[in-house]
Amino acid sequence: MWHGRFKQDTAKIVQDFTQSLDIDWRMYEADIEGSIAHVKMLGHTGLIPTDEAVKIEAGLRQVLEEIQQGKFTPSESLEDVHMNIEARLTEIEPLGAKLHTARSRNDQVATTTRIYLRKRLQALSTELHELLHVLTGKAKQHERIIIPGYTHMQQAQPISMGHYWLAWFEAFSRDNDRLNFALDSLNECPLGAGALAGSTLPIDREMTSSLLGFSRPTRNSLDTVGQRDYMMDYHYFASMFMIHISRLCTDLITWNTQEFAFIVLPDEFCTGSSMMPQKKNPDVLELARGKTGQVIGNMTDLLFMLKGLPMTYNRDLQEDKRGLWASLDTTESVMKIIAALLERAEVDEDKALAGLSKGYSLATDIAEYLVMKGVPFRDAHMKVGRLVGWCIEHNVSFGDLTLEQWQEHIPEAGADLPGILSPEESVKRRDTYGGTGFAQVERQIQEAEERI
Ligand code: ARG
Repeated sequence: MWHGRFKQDTAKIVQDFTQSLDIDWRMYEADIEGSIAHVKMLGHTGLIPTDEAVKIEAGLRQVLEEIQQGKFTPSESLEDVHMNIEARLTEIEPLGAKLHTARSRNDQVATTTRIYLRKRLQALSTELHELLHVLTGKAKQHERIIIPGYTHMQQAQPISMGHYWLAWFEAFSRDNDRLNFALDSLNECPLGAGALAGSTLPIDREMTSSLLGFSRPTRNSLDTVGQRDYMMDYHYFASMFMIHISRLCTDLITWNTQEFAFIVLPDEFCTGSSMMPQKKNPDVLELARGKTGQVIGNMTDLLFMLKGLPMTYNRDLQEDKRGLWASLDTTESVMKIIAALLERAEVDEDKALAGLSKGYSLATDIAEYLVMKGVPFRDAHMKVGRLVGWCIEHNVSFGDLTLEQWQEHIPEAGADLPGILSPEESVKRRDTYGGTGFAQVERQIQEAEERI
């Protein structure tokens, strides 16, 4: 209907191939919001009479209502969300033919997408804060619970479970910074960039920008219609977030096995096996981990799409949304379910301590004890290492050794040595800034709560 140049209608096969309605229809509300700001500006600048602008705005609001009430069904023959809304508007109000003054779908789609994305990112921010909140809650609840800390998946040193939850608090709060960065980078209004070069008409870009709640209009029209950096900034956030989630999931899946068994997941967050009656599977964690690849894939999809694109708008850019929606939906659902699961996850203290029963994870504590007695660290390391070897050979734990036996292997050992030989003492004494000591964990909890 808008194409004066063509003598033939677009072939059906081309219509099907080029339409983006199935992908962009979900932005209808954002698109109407953008159009309302645009028509207000057209009225304000006198590009169209004010009373006409008012009528067009009323028409746009009616279209929105019809969509919300399910009374208007868009058609793929009208290609995309923008054309469908404009066409329906013009049916309701013939003055709608003036709406597209000084506007191209190139700046329109960039504006609509930013408005839609902003809303979704704000919702993600709320969910992410909930997750951070759950983590500080767990840290408080599990501050005094001691679990084995691992490096290389080998028992390393005892740690406070609260310290463990706070480690994820740090990772997810960096994700929160990345999310804020993405929100910042979309915070400029493309409207008025036109197809690529602006407009000969005296539009007011400041006005549309502020009506739509952006901090300022974009600075360069060519860049505006041809860039999707703000989407990439979201994708990077999403990928890092999912990488963190996948690692957290692996820990919990491992610690939930019968071999480790110190993480207890609620029945309502697990599923059974259709064949093996004894199974209680951590499917939620596995699925969250499994979705990570898709999110990273969506990021690389957009990177590849952007690579080598000439300045400015190219139709390739229409392909930017499918993966974006998928990642938005995935990150949002993962945030919700992981927060809910963590809230209900419990620690079996006895099983966690049982894992530490041989006491070898206190070896560093003993070496450091010897350092305080004046033994050079390398010598202390060697002595304690030899003792661990001897214990393994004779199948005894540190706790089984008498003071005489200690002194046989390590002459510097004093009567005060057994006093430090408990996981509880070990954790308590790791009081360096950011360490696992209870006092440090308490400080971290307090600071974390202030940071949320
Ligand atoms: N549906 C298109 C998109 O999402 C709108 C822009 C079309 N612009 C054009 N010059 N054909 O990118």
